[in-house]
Amino acid sequence: MHALMRHLHDHASTATDTTPSMVTRGLVLDQGWRYDLTLWIGDTLMFRGQLRVMRRKTLDLARIQPGEAVLDVGCGTGTLALDVGRQVGRAGRVVGVDPAAAQIARARAKAARRHVPVEFQTGVIERLDFADGTFDVVLSTLMMHHLPASLKRQGLAEIARVLKPGGRLVIADFPRQRDRQGRVARFHACGSDLDDLTALVRDAGFSQVETEALRPGRFSAFPGAGFVTAVWS
Ligand SMILES: C[S@@+](CC[C@H](N)C(=O)[O-])C[C@H]1O[C@@H](n2cnc3c(N)ncnc32)[C@H](O)[C@@H]1O
Repeated sequence: MHALMRHLHDHASTATDTTPSMVTRGLVLDQGWRYDLTLWIGDTLMFRGQLRVMRRKTLDLARIQPGEAVLDVGCGTGTLALDVGRQVGRAGRVVGVDPAAAQIARARAKAARRHVPVEFQTGVIERLDFADGTFDVVLSTLMMHHLPASLKRQGLAEIARVLKPGGRLVIADFPRQRDRQGRVARFHACGSDLDDLTALVRDAGFSQVETEALRPGRFSAFPGAGFVTAVWS
């Protein structure tokens, strides 16, 4: 299984799509369908469904209402954004942004196949291409550990800018996994523990900042994983 995860990270930034991926100091995963396949196999055989639990819990914490506007930043192949699309319904708006062209192409193909009207765009957290106060909710799952600390700060300021007053932020992530080796370790090197992530969110000016650990029971593929929720006011 670790070989499978190495495969995922070995093939980072190798998009075959004609749209170029965007330049960022974050670590880009340009995998398309291989990302979904690797995660599905990993979650089923190794993580025992923890990734699915994390996504469900992210949606619970976001308390998304029909008609709301939601941004998923670092959306990968769009799995979470598609679930959100079903929740907000036709009156709502969901946008997924990721620098990786192959992830966005895969996300668009999934949305078309499932007839869920979610917009997917190449983009980066450091320059979100939206007007101030566009979104009711911003989500970020398993993305913050791809960003160096200075970019986390810059990205949180951008998230604050595009949220409406009273808008909600939900981050799901895990800290640096010290036992990981090679390229996987490189990808996990920027992971912050929940307390540090919470401090960054507070420093960005958010209020009602709360932390919740993911409680995977006896087995944990992601020790220290959890959620930070906050409100922009
Ligand atoms: C581990 S994936 C998580 C994808 C998805 N959110 C999920 O839960 O499956 C991390 C994603 O962050 C993206 N990423 C890297 N740098 C970024 C940046 N500067 N802005 C936005 N996303 C970025 C990567 O391309 C990758 O798709």
